[in-house]
Amino acid sequence: MAASAKLLFLSFLTLFISSSIARTSFRPKALVLPVTKDVSASVPQYVTRIKQRTPLVPVKLTVDLGGGYFWVNCEKGYVSSTSKPVRCGSAQCSLFGSHGCSGEKICGRSPSNTVTGVSTYGDIHADVVATNSTDGNNPVRVVSVPKFLFICGSNVVQKGLASGVTGMAGLGRTKVSFPSQFASAFSFPRKFAICLSSSTMTDGVMFFGDGPYNFGYLNEDLSKVLTFTPLITNPVSTAPASFLGEPSVEYFIGVKSIRISDKDVPLNKTLLSIDRNGVGGTKISTVNPYTVMETSIYKAVSEAFVKAVGAATVAPVAPFGTCFASQDIGYTPMGPAVPTINLVLQNEKVVWSIIGANSMVRFDDVICLGFVDAGSGPSTAQVGFVVGGSHPMTSITIGALQLENNFLQFDLATSRLGFSSLFLEHTNCANFNFTSST
Ligand SMILES: *[C@@H]1O[C@H](CO)[C@@H](O)[C@H](O)[C@H]1NC(C)=O
Ligand SMILES: *[C@@H]1O[C@H](CO)[C@@H](O)[C@H](O)[C@H]1NC(C)=O
Ligand SMILES: *[C@@H]1O[C@H](CO)[C@@H](O)[C@H](O)[C@H]1NC(C)=O
Repeated sequence: MAASAKLLFLSFLTLFISSSIARTSFRPKALVLPVTKDVSASVPQYVTRIKQRTPLVPVKLTVDLGGGYFWVNCEKGYVSSTSKPVRCGSAQCSLFGSHGCSGEKICGRSPSNTVTGVSTYGDIHADVVATNSTDGNNPVRVVSVPKFLFICGSNVVQKGLASGVTGMAGLGRTKVSFPSQFASAFSFPRKFAICLSSSTMTDGVMFFGDGPYNFGYLNEDLSKVLTFTPLITNPVSTAPASFLGEPSVEYFIGVKSIRISDKDVPLNKTLLSIDRNGVGGTKISTVNPYTVMETSIYKAVSEAFVKAVGAATVAPVAPFGTCFASQDIGYTPMGPAVPTINLVLQNEKVVWSIIGANSMVRFDDVICLGFVDAGSGPSTAQVGFVVGGSHPMTSITIGALQLENNFLQFDLATSRLGFSSLFLEHTNCANFNFTSST
């Protein structure tokens, strides 16, 4: 090697080393991603944006709280100089648990569209992902993960997602979901938080890593106003395309009873706990737009609610079964003036209160209880996937309408959920300041 070429090589090497140090020396404490309520598909979806590939391009993904994986359509428009297939037998492949192996020894697993219920098979790849980090107040700096793992989806599996969305971001309890991959890339706690906006005009927010999460007009740290309840693991998966014997990667909580106007709704309590076949219990979902209840639970809640409202019901609007004339229901700053529906968790003091803004859906002259009877036979397009007839595998699936403007923090290390209705904090999920501060 000529002396000048050697010098050139050495200076390249120095440049390379110093730039990688510059990249890794900044260690973010948390990441922040926007979450948009998108109504371009048949039911609302909550969509986030990241950047991926080389060169980086924006990628829109439907957020699936209970999804185990990140998948993106590789069949159309996936161009990247850094995308690498994951080999069978590698450590990265084993993070996916049960998996397949193609003729070329590429590790694979099924990407599932949990909105439509369609699953295919796809190769697993690693590529660059970039997002904003945050100090809790604003986005501060873009950081990237060089080998972020994902499953290759296809046009078929993408079908049914909101306009411009090419994949799904799973936040579930696996080693390769968004929370796990970000936590291991930046060595921050296995915690994430999500806050869905009720408006399609202003973004809600999602954080990976710990607080502070400062927003709202008092700019208070929302990690300080949370009530906690244990997260429960269902020993049996309720998701499509799961392998026999795999535990569920979704988030379940322990609803012990339901109270409306200080009265316990009479329920078959057996349905509220999870049996050894994984049947029963309460889970939280961002792909079900409305809470879906096993038919006997729905009927009891509806009956108690109608009694507490004290107004006559009118012909319902699908997929709902319990509706009133809009003129009979007043309005308050907390939404329609209806009794609060309380989900009583581990004891009488730990209660998830569903106020009017989260319980009702208004059409012009009619306003309906925004819960769906699993037995009313609605199409999957109306209520999202995994309903399963009048006695679904999961008795209560808390859907997105009921999550809007609630701040939810999932702590995977201690297996607990922190929650707070932001109406009570005089703020909402669209109040994070997305203006970069650097
Ligand atoms: C970071 O945040 C800024 C300001 O909100 C936004 O314009 C930019 O697209 C974000 N970058 C990434 C990689 O998400
Ligand atoms: C309560 O639900 C369980 C589980 O579906 C069922 O086996 C039992 O018969 C129900 N009990 C009553 C009183 O309906
Ligand atoms: C949002 O953050 C920017 C950057 O720190 C700041 O200049 C601006 O005043 C903030 N906006 C509000 C409404 O607080």
